[in-house]
Amino acid sequence: MDLAQKARENSYSPYSHFRVGAALLAKSGKVYLGCNIENAAYPAGICAERTAFFKAVSEGEREFVMLALVGGREGETSDFCAPCGICRQVISEFCEKDFKILLGNPQKFATYTLESLLPLSFGPKDL
Ligand code: THU
Repeated sequence: MDLAQKARENSYSPYSHFRVGAALLAKSGKVYLGCNIENAAYPAGICAERTAFFKAVSEGEREFVMLALVGGREGETSDFCAPCGICRQVISEFCEKDFKILLGNPQKFATYTLESLLPLSFGPKDL
């Protein structure tokens, strides 16, 4: 959660003023950081979670242990930020049902499983 908070400092979010940071632990032991990166053409922006996953996958990682997420409005102490639906789907491409997702801030957070955040999912197993 400390690393996710650190990653949040790099958030580029001039449009929403909502800043998000993610820290993704791969089975290799490496941690990949990500932040949300917005764009003047709004749909071209990307969430912090996908930044972290795409960085990791593009470096050859395929197996992951857990993801920490810290997000909230600019200028406010982050309280809680849940992953959006598209990010949950991207996570499910690479992670098992019991993959851990930590939400909150370094002082207070809760641990969820991917299955609890994305029940009845459609994924690689279905094709
Ligand atoms: N955002 C994330 O980075 N992750 C989430 O799970 C929720 C939303 C970003 C996208 C956009 O830059 C801003 O937060 C407001 O939606």
